[in-house]
Order: sequence, then C-alpha cells, then structure tokens
Amino acid sequence: MVESYSKNANHNMRRPVVKDEIVDFMRTRQKPVAGALKELEAFARKENIPIIPHETVAYFRLLLQALQPKKILEIGTAIGFSALLMAENAPNAQITTIDRNEEMIDFAKKNLAKYDLRKQITLLEGDAVDVLRDLTETYDFVFMDSAKSKYIVFLPRILELLEVGGVVVLDDIFQGGDVAKDIMEVRRGQRTIYRGLQNLFNATLNHPDLTASLVPLGDGILMIRKNAETVTLPDPSSF
Ligand SMILES: C[S@@+](CC[C@H](N)C(=O)[O-])C[C@H]1O[C@@H](n2cnc3c(N)ncnc32)[C@H](O)[C@@H]1O
Repeated sequence: MVESYSKNANHNMRRPVVKDEIVDFMRTRQKPVAGALKELEAFARKENIPIIPHETVAYFRLLLQALQPKKILEIGTAIGFSALLMAENAPNAQITTIDRNEEMIDFAKKNLAKYDLRKQITLLEGDAVDVLRDLTETYDFVFMDSAKSKYIVFLPRILELLEVGGVVVLDDIFQGGDVAKDIMEVRRGQRTIYRGLQNLFNATLNHPDLTASLVPLGDGILMIRKNAETVTLPDPSSF
C-alpha cells in the first residue's frame, strides 16, 4: 500500500479537458504498453500514483523516436514509469531523473535496477531546487512533471541547462481547466498553482526566443523549444 497518494489525490487527472469519449478513444485505440511498463502502469493505477496517462505515453513514443535526444533531464520520477518509457524510445539517450519523495525513490530504485537494462537512467535524490543548481551538464530534452506552481521557479535554470534547439515538455498545465477561468472562480486552495501557471504562460507563450505550444493531452502539456543561447524570462511582477 502506497502512502504518498490517497484515493482523492490527482484531482485534476479526473477532470479531463477533452471530451470523455475522445479521452476514452485515445486511451483504448492507441497501442498499449507492454512488459515492464504494463506492470508499472497497473501498479500506479492501483495505488493512485500519478504517472502520465496513455494519450501522453503514445505521444511521447512518437516524439522521442522522432527527436532521438541524447541527454534527457526529468523532474519528477515517481516510480520510474516515464523515465523507462523515454529510455525505451530513445535508446541512445542518457537520462537523469530527479525526485524528493522517499517512498517514490524506493520504488524507482527497485524498478530501475530491474528494468533499465541498458543502464541509461540515473536517479538523483533531493528537491529539484537544490539538485538543479548543482547540475553541470547540458540537455537536449527536459520533461518537467513535478509540482506545477514551481514550474516557473525552475524554468530559468532549466533554460540555462538546455541546449539551443532543445525541447522542454511541462505536464499538467491546464489545472483541470481552471487556467482558463478568472481567479475568483478557482477554489482558494488551488490559487497558488493558478498564479504559478499564469506566470508560466505569461513568461513563455509570446517570448521572442522560444517557440511554445499548448497541447491538450491528459491535463495539458506545454512544449517549449529554446531558440537562442541566452533566454531571459520576464519578471513575473511585471505582468
Ligand atoms: C506526477 S509524479 C511523476 C510521474 C512520472 N513522471 C511518470 O509519469 O511516471 C510527480 C513526482 O514529482 C516529485 N516532485 C514534486 N516536486 C518535486 C521537487 N520540487 N523536487 C523533486 N521532486 C519533486 C514527486 O515526489 C512525485 O514523485
């Protein structure tokens, strides 16, 4: 029994931003996962651990096979599902993945020891705030799948670590549709996340040195390509 995630966790994952029947279609018609990923997906579903949904899995397969990144950074390992998916579809990539939750780290260590057969994945333990500061290498693909309110906090450092032409994917950015509402219509407990996401959109969607796209998969992903060596994000207080 996993303690980190209750039955009521992952509230926004049960508020799809796309029609239910289309979500169902995407989840049932696209090639299922197999082997280790199937086992981990079933475990995550049973224990309410928020791994990427199947429509995002199918998209990641195609994206990673097409891009073939060599150096991947992930924030938010959980049990290692998305890291193993990326390893499978970018077999020449080295993947660094970060998590701070001890329970998830224990599961991830066991799963990576068992299933990361090409030894592509390195798990770094700790809060991303600290771990990111100490990284010295650069990356050509970054997957951010951690606390949403912190995306805008981590992004300046991520953009320093990202090569020109590299891509960042940020998961769960629609907040179950709340981002399109006025803040007064958003539950009080959700407003810090709402503000963080609005600052993220304000900083990136029209930036001259970034190409950005919002994609309605799962609870939404934001994809960003870095187009210049130095990218300075505007100060959120200027919006
Ligand atoms: C949505 S889960 C990741 C799921 C995983 N990417 C997958 O799809 O298989 C989010 C994870 O991010 C981790 N996390 C959240 N904030 C973090 C932070 N500031 N530093 C490190 N890990 C963090 C949590 O502990 C949790 O395991």
